Amino acid sequence: VKVEGNLKFAEKARRAAKTSPIVVAFDPTKKMRLEEAAELLLPLRGVVSGIKIGIPALLHLGLRVLELPKLLEGFFFIFDPKLADVGHVDRLVAEKIFGAGFDALIVQPFVGFGGGLEEVIRVKGERGVLAVCSMSHPGSEEFLNRHTEELMARSWSAGVDGFILPAQKPDLISRARASYPEALIFCPGVGFQGAFPGSAISAGADFEIVGRTILSSENPRKEAEGILEDIRAGG
Ligand code: XMP
Repeated sequence: VKVEGNLKFAEKARRAAKTSPIVVAFDPTKKMRLEEAAELLLPLRGVVSGIKIGIPALLHLGLRVLELPKLLEGFFFIFDPKLADVGHVDRLVAEKIFGAGFDALIVQPFVGFGGGLEEVIRVKGERGVLAVCSMSHPGSEEFLNRHTEELMARSWSAGVDGFILPAQKPDLISRARASYPEALIFCPGVGFQGAFPGSAISAGADFEIVGRTILSSENPRKEAEGILEDIRAGG
């Protein structure tokens, strides 16, 4: 996967998707050294395009996890703190993450943009911001999923580059694709959470995010290759 340096994130991601529409979610369950993480992730080069790093990785590797984007070439990197704070804190996080070389940041748009996430949009430059607009765990019906359409509309008007939507909801993905043809759509929920590889891509998503199915397997590269084949076969 060739990831060009100075392209806008959306363009870079779309190009990478042609090689592989898989992003691997790196959520380690135990303490790990940076070198071990690199050994685990590097063999996925060429089979997955992006690596999503969240709080578990930060807690298990420590701050050195922020070195991964500069250490591992050939991937784009998404930081996933599901950010939802007031503006000046959002900005501090975004500046640090983008400064470390991450290509995109995931935010929770329910916190709002005025005096909040607008600060992330302000500092993002060529980097990407992705808004979680729906989830698939039962509790997401309590609040988040009642506002999915509004969250997508507000996030898009505020300047995000795309949405995180569950792979388990192909109808929602198709509607989002039709309403926001320019938006990037990333879908977790594949494998362990039940969605079949390829189902979200067939519905119009750009990327499927796969974590445990790949990284908990005995041979992560082989597993990722199998998922890529399934996606190419049409889900
Ligand atoms: P897996 O299950 O593949 O998780 O290890 C990968 C990433 O996806 C997110 N995640 C979910 N998001 N509904 C969602 O909307 C879900 O049921 C779900 N499960 C996992 C999570 O961020 C993880 O890093």
